[in-house]
Amino acid sequence: MDLFIIIFLIISIAFCNSWVGFGEKTFNVLEYGAKGDGTSDDTHAFVKAWKDLCGANEGTPTLEIPAAHTFLVHQNVFKGPCQSQNLHIKLDGTILAPHRKDWGPCSKKWLHFLDVHGITFDGSGVINGNGEDWWKDYNSTTQCVGSPTALIFERCDELQLSGITHLNGPGFHLYVVHSKDVTISHININTPANSHNTDGIDLTNAIRVNIYDSTIQGGDDCIAIKGGSQFINVTQLTCGPTTHGISVGSLGGGGSEEFAENINVKNSTFNGAISAVKIKTWPGGKGYVKSIIFDHIIVNEVYNPIYLDQHYMRTPEKEQALKVSNVTISNISGTFTGEEPIVLDCAKIGCDNITLRQIILIAVDPSKPSKTICNNVNGIIVDNVSPSLQCVQT
Ligand SMILES: *[C@@H]1O[C@H](CO)[C@@H](O)[C@H](O)[C@H]1NC(C)=O
Ligand SMILES: *[C@@H]1O[C@H](CO)[C@@H](O)[C@H](O)[C@H]1NC(C)=O
Ligand SMILES: *[C@@H]1O[C@H](CO)[C@@H](O)[C@H](O)[C@H]1NC(C)=O
Ligand SMILES: *[C@@H]1O[C@H](CO)[C@@H](O)[C@H](O)[C@H]1NC(C)=O
Ligand SMILES: *[C@@H]1O[C@H](CO)[C@@H](O)[C@H](O)[C@H]1NC(C)=O
Ligand SMILES: *[C@@H]1O[C@H](CO)[C@@H](O)[C@H](O)[C@H]1NC(C)=O
Repeated sequence: MDLFIIIFLIISIAFCNSWVGFGEKTFNVLEYGAKGDGTSDDTHAFVKAWKDLCGANEGTPTLEIPAAHTFLVHQNVFKGPCQSQNLHIKLDGTILAPHRKDWGPCSKKWLHFLDVHGITFDGSGVINGNGEDWWKDYNSTTQCVGSPTALIFERCDELQLSGITHLNGPGFHLYVVHSKDVTISHININTPANSHNTDGIDLTNAIRVNIYDSTIQGGDDCIAIKGGSQFINVTQLTCGPTTHGISVGSLGGGGSEEFAENINVKNSTFNGAISAVKIKTWPGGKGYVKSIIFDHIIVNEVYNPIYLDQHYMRTPEKEQALKVSNVTISNISGTFTGEEPIVLDCAKIGCDNITLRQIILIAVDPSKPSKTICNNVNGIIVDNVSPSLQCVQT
């Protein structure tokens, strides 16, 4: 054989070991010394692999976290900006958080992606927040209020997250903040009911977000859409049991000025949740909530299916309040277990242009008394709503 061909073959083989596909470089955490045995600390291997991934400048480099391994990883910031505008994180194994006793004091974030553009995060793997010890002695009066958020994407535009299972978050499972053009699909968030403050997905200053085909079970909001969020679609979601539903808010806490607008929640099912359709604002806040649609929603044994709450946490009326307007709640059907299936509790400044259409809610126990609440609702249009609303003159 020609020497030239032999050299060519050697080079090709060498390249094939570290390159997969056509110029797409992959970085496997095992090759960076990760053990994946569930007890060794693999943080350093992840940090080194991330450094190389972030520095790779051709195509879409891939971080591989292989199946059949459990990687114990401590809190870390996976920081950009990276060389490539598209990164792939392929999680097929499990990433496990340390036990509570092994966290530093006042830790608020576990896996924090910061300033990274174009992440595609997928695979059939698991992110296990190991939260049991956090829920057990949850103490909201201690100095470091709250438990760490498991997975955070901050300033990560064009994020696509799919396929992953999120278990046992110490606090929120997934938090998207200051990011645009985000797609979250086919994820499964699963944490027991007795866990405190374990929201499924939280959005703050998130713009153009599409969440679909996912299931969320946890101890707090299924999805919380907070200040600065715009153009949010949620479809084909299953929430519950025990979650607090899909909330716009809470907004305006501590007298702050916040807004949320253009939010569509459609084709979703709530099983055994505390509420389903929810908007919550604090008295004393400023700003607005507008152009919100909840449509095609099924509720099964939900305590308060529809809850517009401008006196969040039973805070008394204050002079200032966020303005709620242009809200459509339509085609909501199913059963409720509480005493107030529909609550529209607006601040004194009033909610404007509220439409309720085709809502049929049936008490699980018809012998239990129930009533609807309607305070300060202006411009309400009601068509085919049962139980009937007190604010509508018949
Ligand atoms: C919560 O923490 C505060 C302050 O550290 C303490 O006084 C209180 O006893 C704690 N409560 C519980 C239920 O542990
Ligand atoms: C949300 O849905 C609307 C209408 O169905 C669509 O026009 C819009 O592009 C969607 N937005 C996102 C961020 O997916
Ligand atoms: C809602 O579901 C119906 C049928 O199940 C489907 O035709 C429609 O496209 C869905 N809409 C959205 C926004 O997912
Ligand atoms: C009211 O909300 C609907 C649905 O989000 C939106 O299409 C419409 O433009 C809004 N109207 C105003 C005046 O904001
Ligand atoms: C109401 O929503 C249900 C599912 O939630 C859907 O099957 C039905 O077609 C919808 N009805 C109308 C009139 O849109
Ligand atoms: C009032 O609500 C209707 C129905 O959703 C919408 O088409 C219209 O744009 C809204 N107007 C204002 C001023 O919000």
